[in-house]
Amino acid sequence: MTDDARKRLLEGLNEDLRGEFQAIIMYRLYASLVQGPYRQELRTFFANEIPEELGHAQILADKIAALGGTPVAVPAPVTVVSDAKAMLEAALKAELEAIGRYVKRRAEAEAAGEYGLAAEFDAMIADKSNHRNELRLMLAGWLRERRDLDARIPSSLRRGGMTPGRAYFWGQLSTAIEPVAGVIGAALRRLLRTPS
Ligand SMILES: [Fe+2]
Ligand SMILES: [Fe+2]
Repeated sequence: MTDDARKRLLEGLNEDLRGEFQAIIMYRLYASLVQGPYRQELRTFFANEIPEELGHAQILADKIAALGGTPVAVPAPVTVVSDAKAMLEAALKAELEAIGRYVKRRAEAEAAGEYGLAAEFDAMIADKSNHRNELRLMLAGWLRERRDLDARIPSSLRRGGMTPGRAYFWGQLSTAIEPVAGVIGAALRRLLRTPS
């Protein structure tokens, strides 16, 4: 490998390492910060990503050192969001960016005669693709659930300027009250008809 090719490869690998450090911090923060009805599930999902990203960081840092370079000590910027869906979207974006980088880096490693490294990238691309698929499926379910919820909210209440959550509550309550009111009405009618 020429000096120039090694320098280019090292720069690329350090960019990838910054991305892995970013992913570790991102998943750690999201696991701690996530709120809402899916907290437990999402917390577990985010936390479970961390060991895998740490493994990727180890592969990259080891390879950078073996090639005579110095691994970076600073992560790529982390997007901090508070909404659970925004977390899933930010994570999906990060995984997609990593896949794009790794496909490119894999080709560079192969061109440089680093076949072992190219094989490591194959495995990391597979990991990232699985994460991407899971995130996409979670987001797809999320949007569907949102639509179902919207469909159950009476439009008359929505138009009245109520928040969706409140409108749904009152909508459900009015549905529950109707049969109760019917029973009371029937009982009253029977009572009034009873001769004294
Ligand atoms: Fe990773
Ligand atoms: Fe990942």
